[in-house]
Amino acid sequence: MGGCKAEEKAGVGEDWCYPFGNKDTLILKNQKKSPLVLRMVVLGMSMICGIFICTMCVKQIGSDSWSRIVKIEVGEQSCNKSAVLPSEVQFVHYPQPVTYSRIECMCNPVRFFAIISSQRSGSGWFETLLNSHMNVSSNGEIFSRKERRSNISSIIKTLDMVYDLDWNSSASKNECTAAVGLKWMLNQGLVANHADIVDYFNRRGVSAIFLFRRNLLCQLVSQLANNHDRYLKQLNGTHKAHVHTSYEANILAKYKPRLNASSLIWRLKQADDYTRDALENLKNMRHITIYYEDLIRNRTKLLDVLDFLKVPRRKLVSRHVKIHTKPLSEQIENWDEVYNTLNGTQYESFLNADYRI
Ligand SMILES: *[C@@H]1O[C@H](CO)[C@@H](O)[C@H](O)[C@H]1NC(C)=O
Ligand SMILES: *[C@@H]1O[C@H](CO)[C@@H](O)[C@H](O)[C@H]1NC(C)=O
Ligand SMILES: *[C@@H]1O[C@H](CO)[C@@H](O)[C@H](O)[C@H]1NC(C)=O
Ligand SMILES: *[C@@H]1O[C@H](CO)[C@@H](O)[C@H](O)[C@H]1NC(C)=O
Ligand SMILES: *[C@@H]1O[C@H](CO)[C@@H](O)[C@H](O)[C@H]1NC(C)=O
Ligand SMILES: *[C@@H]1O[C@H](CO)[C@@H](O)[C@H](O)[C@H]1NC(C)=O
Ligand SMILES: *[C@@H]1O[C@H](CO)[C@@H](O)[C@H](O)[C@H]1NC(C)=O
Ligand SMILES: *[C@@H]1O[C@H](CO)[C@@H](O)[C@H](O)[C@H]1NC(C)=O
Repeated sequence: MGGCKAEEKAGVGEDWCYPFGNKDTLILKNQKKSPLVLRMVVLGMSMICGIFICTMCVKQIGSDSWSRIVKIEVGEQSCNKSAVLPSEVQFVHYPQPVTYSRIECMCNPVRFFAIISSQRSGSGWFETLLNSHMNVSSNGEIFSRKERRSNISSIIKTLDMVYDLDWNSSASKNECTAAVGLKWMLNQGLVANHADIVDYFNRRGVSAIFLFRRNLLCQLVSQLANNHDRYLKQLNGTHKAHVHTSYEANILAKYKPRLNASSLIWRLKQADDYTRDALENLKNMRHITIYYEDLIRNRTKLLDVLDFLKVPRRKLVSRHVKIHTKPLSEQIENWDEVYNTLNGTQYESFLNADYRI
């Protein structure tokens, strides 16, 4: 069984070769009473079988799909799942990463999640909070790279790596990860492939955390300021979407964008419709909806998220410092014009933003 030995060396482990080996010896032992011809036939068949299986072993080295299938079976068999509610079975997983071993945590169930959001909705901050939990790994905005979202097969290949715990990022945790996921913006291939992605999420039992911002005017100001810094790189020549000190926050907040009043309503409506349509298309998967404003007002909302992910409650921390802390009227260059444009419209409430939010 040289093939099996080689498989061991590949780091996959011997656990799946033994069942085949045992079967061979079993057949050989049972032939005592059979006539010679039958004995020879059985022996020959078992040899052919053995050779075939070993060839398969050798062939499959390097291709992780086969070993993954076998490993999932082994993992699923040996973990005691009696405590898992029937309604939960779909969402409880026992991944067997190829790049490392989960060793003693092999039977710690893992939940799959995705933070679904849009730019400048506090998702960066939210993700650092989640990642401060010892059992949560959220691997960042991995679909910001175009080639990973260029078609549905690239998307699925990338998601598979994340959910098989084989995605290495600064957020990757130890073998006792209990929830693994990523941050995904609607415009990063998510809306474009929504039907296939809903299928995938339901098939693999992925839960979604919808994180959005109610005040689209604040979001627009944040977007414009962020775009401005993308070009100007105000912090010693580097662009920063998030900052860790109030000194840096003050520098970035100095810029007051001028909004185009004639297209403002159209722009807000477009953003609103885009999110509304997206959520309508994505609603048929297990999800929780969180608003940035609610999180800021009431941090205990975070515990709802931990409960949703079924990870132990813990205090979560982030080093992110909020950039815009002044009243909206002091953050917009042409505030009067913007006020008059939105006053009396369906977007009027955006004008009275609580500036701490
Ligand atoms: C599985 O766990 C349950 C308690 O959660 C326990 O009662 C049961 O004996 C365990 N089964 C095995 C096979 O260990
Ligand atoms: C999907 O995109 C990847 C990366 O851009 C590319 O290599 C692959 O050929 C594409 N597959 C299909 C079916 O278009
Ligand atoms: C993940 O990447 C870090 C550095 O980027 C490296 O030190 C570590 O060994 C990698 N882990 C795995 C499992 O590949
Ligand atoms: C969380 O991580 C710790 C330390 O790695 C581990 O002991 C614990 O079992 C994990 N909890 C869950 C729910 O997996
Ligand atoms: C820029 O660099 C200077 C000196 O190298 C340092 O004192 C300052 O804190 C840096 N500023 C920022 C915003 O990183
Ligand atoms: C403002 O928006 C209108 C309508 O979309 C456009 O025609 C105009 O060029 C814009 N003005 C500026 C300064 O961008
Ligand atoms: C904060 O949120 C929690 C959980 O959603 C809720 O039970 C509680 O009433 C909220 N507290 C306040 C002051 O709104
Ligand atoms: C806003 O509109 C209302 C009428 O819809 C008007 O009474 C009020 O003066 C307006 N506010 C400002 C600051 O122009």
